[in-house]
Amino acid sequence: MRRLVAGTGWKMNNGIADSIRYAEELRSRIAGLDTSAIDIYVLPPFTSLATAANAFAGSPVAVGGQNMHWDDSGSWTGEISASMLLETGCRYVELAHSERLQHFGETYEAVRRKVDKAMSVGLIPIVCLGETAQEKADGRADEVLADQLLTSIDGQPDERVPEIILAYEPRWAIGAAEAASPEYVEERHRALRTILRKHCGEEIAERTRIIYGGSVTPENGRDILDIKDVDGLFVGRAAWKPEGFARIVELVSDAAKRKQAA
Ligand code: PGA
Repeated sequence: MRRLVAGTGWKMNNGIADSIRYAEELRSRIAGLDTSAIDIYVLPPFTSLATAANAFAGSPVAVGGQNMHWDDSGSWTGEISASMLLETGCRYVELAHSERLQHFGETYEAVRRKVDKAMSVGLIPIVCLGETAQEKADGRADEVLADQLLTSIDGQPDERVPEIILAYEPRWAIGAAEAASPEYVEERHRALRTILRKHCGEEIAERTRIIYGGSVTPENGRDILDIKDVDGLFVGRAAWKPEGFARIVELVSDAAKRKQAA
């Protein structure tokens, strides 16, 4: 049984003061929920990390970075290392978000190095995978996903792959009006698990979590969560306010109970 995940990336939102308010309100909104069967994370901007980690301490909510550099230290102006993230109280780090690929020229070869570094220091990488609208139109989605996935985990021993959270985030569905349809999500998640099965074996494929992100809302989240190969939700806009994320956390906790009972 894979533990379900409820996560949100704040992108460039919520500075220090807003992070404190967010944490206080989210904590009180989820206090009555049984979240013991799920993992919850928020990814604040770098400058809010230490504050948010502090404000969520003792709660079920863990904090992570939205990016990091692959090197330990050195002449990398504007960058942040894995150990710096750990020092602020991070447990997770998001890698390969589509906005990093699109606006900052990030490549999966860089992502591979970052995965390696994150794993070596004990941060949990959340690796985003997703095809563009053009790649989808060309019928190349699964080929692109396979390439992104295999490049990202290249060099990792198979038994460590389940420590990575894979986030299927179709690039055309991020910041969009609608999420991908449940049928489409089901096909891609099945394809990703098949790739894992082929390369790492059945047992590893069954233990690795693949979550969905891209225009998730409290309204469409339940249908997506009911897909067998979907192991959680990764939410942007709909979780930038604590009431929105509290509803997502509740949906994921409920889905964990349904999946356990099935
Ligand atoms: P969105 O963002 O939920 O606002 O589409 C998702 C993401 O960027 O991960």
